[in-house]
Amino acid sequence: MKTKGPKVTRPAKADLNPKLRAEKEQAARNDKRRKWFMKTDLELVERFLNVSLRDGIRNMLLSRRRQVRVLDLGCGYGITLRGLKKEFGKEIETYGLTATRLGSQSYRGVDHLLVGHALEVKPAVKFDLIYSHIGPPYHSERWLDVVEKTVGWLEPGGVAILQVKFGEGPSVNSLVAQPAIRELLESKGIKSHNLFQNVLSFKKP
Ligand SMILES: C[S@@+](CC[C@H](N)C(=O)[O-])C[C@H]1O[C@@H](n2cnc3c(N)ncnc32)[C@H](O)[C@@H]1O
Repeated sequence: MKTKGPKVTRPAKADLNPKLRAEKEQAARNDKRRKWFMKTDLELVERFLNVSLRDGIRNMLLSRRRQVRVLDLGCGYGITLRGLKKEFGKEIETYGLTATRLGSQSYRGVDHLLVGHALEVKPAVKFDLIYSHIGPPYHSERWLDVVEKTVGWLEPGGVAILQVKFGEGPSVNSLVAQPAIRELLESKGIKSHNLFQNVLSFKKP
């Protein structure tokens, strides 16, 4: 039986600068070669991000009493979203962002697929939960700009859990990144955040 695929949205006009275009094309090549997928399922992603996405969604369902919108930033094959959809069904609406759509994949469990560079896509909705495991906030040279986009894509009260390029620790890059993250989030009215190893989490007021 043929299953219905996700609703696919691509940027109307690609106005990326050459550097970002090259980054997107490289990500697309990696997608095609299936080189960088670890087939990480929901349990594994929760373990790597050190968070229970499922508990978070359960709490949101209780407090919001409506469908919860979830975005996987760098969804790969959409395996994590498939796991969440299996657990919550129509109680959640799932969005996956990926540099390229692989025609051979069914993206089962993904209601909407946003295809393009994280800095060029323009989701038409806001999200209650955005998470990312080795996605654009980790891979992109402009990872801090991706974090900034994420803030704009959250509903008030929405939560982001993002594996970022640089986290805690004594490296020069991390020592530069930590104040930059704090400055960015504070400029958006987000007074507290958590950075554990390289997983950044925060809630939009
Ligand atoms: C290594 S895979 C990770 C897949 C999945 N999250 C996992 O944990 O297995 C990287 C994903 O991020 C996407 N990605 C990487 N850089 C991106 C960018 N700059 N913009 C949009 N998507 C990007 C890729 O297309 C792919 O879907």
